[in-house]
Amino acid sequence: MKEIRSQEDFDRKIKRVIISKEEIAERIKEAGKYIDSIYDGRPVLLVSILNGAFVFMADICRAVTIPCEIAFMRAKSYYSGTSSSGVVQITMDLDQDISNYHVVIVEDIIDTGRTLNDIMKLLKGRNPLSIRIVTLLDKPSRRIVELEPDMALFTIPDHFVIGYGLDCGEYFRNLPYIAEFNEEEL
Ligand code: IMP
Ligand code: MG
Repeated sequence: MKEIRSQEDFDRKIKRVIISKEEIAERIKEAGKYIDSIYDGRPVLLVSILNGAFVFMADICRAVTIPCEIAFMRAKSYYSGTSSSGVVQITMDLDQDISNYHVVIVEDIIDTGRTLNDIMKLLKGRNPLSIRIVTLLDKPSRRIVELEPDMALFTIPDHFVIGYGLDCGEYFRNLPYIAEFNEEEL
């Protein structure tokens, strides 16, 4: 990405807003109701994958009204070329046993699906009561491995997007809306 040295450099990289903060807030209410419906008297654990999903997690957990716990993990995936048999390296793991929880993965975006596919395999191996995926954004046209979220708040075309936790070169996570990145600024 071209270097950011001024406010103008920053602003030029934001091509257009594709999802406003009001639209996000509306859908988050519905996602909160969906998570509420999972509760059957046993613990619900919301797990978000850092860094991208931190803003989404902060908002969605406040739209949930059932008793739930919140946890974070961090992962890096390594792949050879386009092979989908990747290895996910957990750089920060959960520190609790999840076998007595209904787990809900709170993710920012599903692109190829590889990262979340690996995380799903890993967490399923720990025998939670159930496991679901709620993603803010879904780019199904980019999928390499078969992976269907239980709920996607927005389905978007194949554009690189920024804001509301999503970054380009670690910038733009602080934007309160989701915008298309200006590819001319790469
Ligand atoms: P996947 O393994 O290809 O599904 O990649 C998912 C990860 O790639 C996400 O958690 C994001 O961190 C990152 N990513 C994919 N698409 C975008 C995008 O359009 N903007 C910002 N980050 C993205
Ligand atoms: Mg992510």
